[in-house]
Amino acid sequence: MAKLAITGGKPVRRKPFAAWPVYSRRESQALEKVLRSQNWGGYPFPNTHASAFAAKFAKAQGAKYGIALANGTVAIEVALKAIGIQPGDEVIVPAYTWEGTVGPVLLLNAVPVFVDVDPETYCLDARLIEQAITPKTRAILPVHLAMNFADLDEILRIARSRNIAVIEDCAHAHGGRWRNKGAGASGDFGCFSFQSSKLMTSGEGGAVITSSLEYYERTQSYVVTASSALTIASPNSRPPSSKLNSSACRSKPGFARKTWSISRSVSSARRAWAS
Ligand SMILES: Cc1ncc(COP(=O)(O)O)c(C=O)c1O
Repeated sequence: MAKLAITGGKPVRRKPFAAWPVYSRRESQALEKVLRSQNWGGYPFPNTHASAFAAKFAKAQGAKYGIALANGTVAIEVALKAIGIQPGDEVIVPAYTWEGTVGPVLLLNAVPVFVDVDPETYCLDARLIEQAITPKTRAILPVHLAMNFADLDEILRIARSRNIAVIEDCAHAHGGRWRNKGAGASGDFGCFSFQSSKLMTSGEGGAVITSSLEYYERTQSYVVTASSALTIASPNSRPPSSKLNSSACRSKPGFARKTWSISRSVSSARRAWAS
């Protein structure tokens, strides 16, 4: 074996790695466009650029719907809420990941159940999942670490046979594919981070993708207090709730239930309209 560079051997690289992130004229022009528009906060939410990006990104990954969010941690939190995680529910997570995978589980007072990683991929070892499942298991949260994929065939087989949701943490897997499907498009949700060190970055940022209209609308209800669920029925309609901010909504008893029922009825109306 050759001598390691650190002990005086020939280094493989002499030049430092390229600076990251990179940008071109296109990014500066797009940034300037947003700056001049003075629509920075996305009102009505999500603004044109955020929705266009989310739709395009979801399509590129092979899912039907996408929503841009503040970061990858929030993306996982919103996905967990959308599948209906309750305090005490168990979520299977890999023993090796960034805390952003597990933090949202704890935030919702659910219980992360750590399962060891496969030494070949450093991703959740699918062979060890079944022994960690209990009647309280509601979700499996594999992480596609450093663009290695957890064994989604096996994870989906286990999950589907038990009615357990699969939320893919794709913080390191933008553009990655599993069996010809984009990262995040095989499970119920794919959650992405656009933090500075990620393969695709906006400094900070995140997105969820899903192909389920119901999950999409639920996600929107949490993110924008039902306003975009109504947008699905009529792109130009302005919902009565859009003036409420999220903290006001949270403090109003029964609001979440009302939001959900609005979202449900829009969903049914849309389905009826489409058929
Ligand atoms: C595997 C993994 N999951 C989730 C996250 C959370 O993403 P964010 O930092 O955008 O909240 C990260 C971020 O570093 C991550 O590496």
